[in-house]
Amino acid sequence: MPKVLVTYFSRTGNTKKIAEAIHDSIGRDAVILPLDKVEDMGPYGLVFIGFPVQSHSVPYKAEAFLKKVPAGKKIALFSTHGSLPGMRLSREALEYASILVVKAKLLGTFACRGKVSMQALEVLGRSPEHETWADMAASASTHPDEHDIADAKAFAKWVLTMSAHGHY
Ligand SMILES: Cc1cc2nc3c(=O)[nH]c(=O)nc-3n(C[C@H](O)[C@H](O)[C@H](O)COP(=O)(O)O)c2cc1C
Repeated sequence: MPKVLVTYFSRTGNTKKIAEAIHDSIGRDAVILPLDKVEDMGPYGLVFIGFPVQSHSVPYKAEAFLKKVPAGKKIALFSTHGSLPGMRLSREALEYASILVVKAKLLGTFACRGKVSMQALEVLGRSPEHETWADMAASASTHPDEHDIADAKAFAKWVLTMSAHGHY
């Protein structure tokens, strides 16, 4: 098995939960670290990178990290978002992230909902556009739930299988 790193940026803990599920699923040999604690991706054969969607895009810290991913590195991306699954609001951050790592070998992406902090809802609820967004975000309040965790674990296994069988 390649040496696996699971790294994440998380403001309010949702993305961290998904990172931990991925780490659990892969097993003891995988390393889990917040993005700002990763000094060198060199030793890892496979890197899972996670971040929350913020203001329709990738948070700055995660963006900076993604730009540093070495060419040819096997990676997988995961994100959490408050908006409904499949909407542009939740997709565009992962799409942008995929472009940032275009020279890497992207084995897969995973996304699920994550509850939106009260503070974020207050700030985002102040403009008319964001008011409807805030209504939609309210139904994320139970996520990530046990199904999201199970899905994240299955995603991690899938990526490992892809990696082991030369699909990249
Ligand atoms: C400042 C801020 C901006 C956000 N913008 C979006 C957004 O544009 N689209 C979306 O789906 N969720 C948005 N969210 C919700 C977060 O993506 C969601 O709560 C996520 O699970 C947070 O992950 P974390 O706990 O790992 O920080 C925003 C949250 C914050 C705090």
